[in-house]
Amino acid sequence: MMRLAEETADDWWEVEALLDLCFAPGREALSSYRLRDGVAPVAALCLVARDEDGTLTGAIRNWPVRVEGPVGKKWALLLGPVAVHPTHQGEGLGAMLILRALEMAREGGWSRVILVGDLPYYRRFGFARLEGVEMPPPTNPERVLGIELRDSAWEGVTGRVTRAMG
Ligand SMILES: CC(C)(COP(=O)(O)OP(=O)(O)OC[C@H]1O[C@@H](n2cnc3c(N)ncnc32)[C@H](O)[C@@H]1OP(=O)(O)O)[C@@H](O)C(=O)NCCC(=O)NCCS
Repeated sequence: MMRLAEETADDWWEVEALLDLCFAPGREALSSYRLRDGVAPVAALCLVARDEDGTLTGAIRNWPVRVEGPVGKKWALLLGPVAVHPTHQGEGLGAMLILRALEMAREGGWSRVILVGDLPYYRRFGFARLEGVEMPPPTNPERVLGIELRDSAWEGVTGRVTRAMG
């Protein structure tokens, strides 16, 4: 049995250690992290999963970003990082974290979500390649994926993804 809860300040370093374990070294050099620098995550959408012993088994964090294009500046939710401890991968925990975060984002009034990831994994949740939306380089455009939480929320929204500040 896994329990999901909002991440607290006390969870921060444990989640960092899980992310270090699950991602290749230098994860913070990824261009998506440039969109997170100095910006607070959306606290209500940062979740931790713990087993019955209280051991951290998975986590997801989400950040606000902007998409700046011809239709002006639009908010989007940058999903991730999401990680599941290697001993619990393949048990549906990643899906549980992602689906819960998406559901809460919709309830929280978010319209559109973006992420950088593998389409073969994320298409099961409804993510599709986002055409004309540019993450900071060097990001493979094939890995820039999005989902609409409101009808047509990505329609006509193109341009550069920027930090949600300034
Ligand atoms: C990606 C990750 C979060 C998925 O969590 P999980 O709990 O193992 O995922 P689920 O149990 O919900 O789903 C497992 C299924 O997804 C598939 N899957 C996992 N990662 C995949 C990927 N990168 N591409 C395609 N399929 C993938 C598994 O093969 C499995 O397939 P099956 O259902 O046909 O057996 C987890 O594997 C992880 O932490 N990986 C390392 C960090 C990472 O890559 N994070 C995502 C960055 S975009």
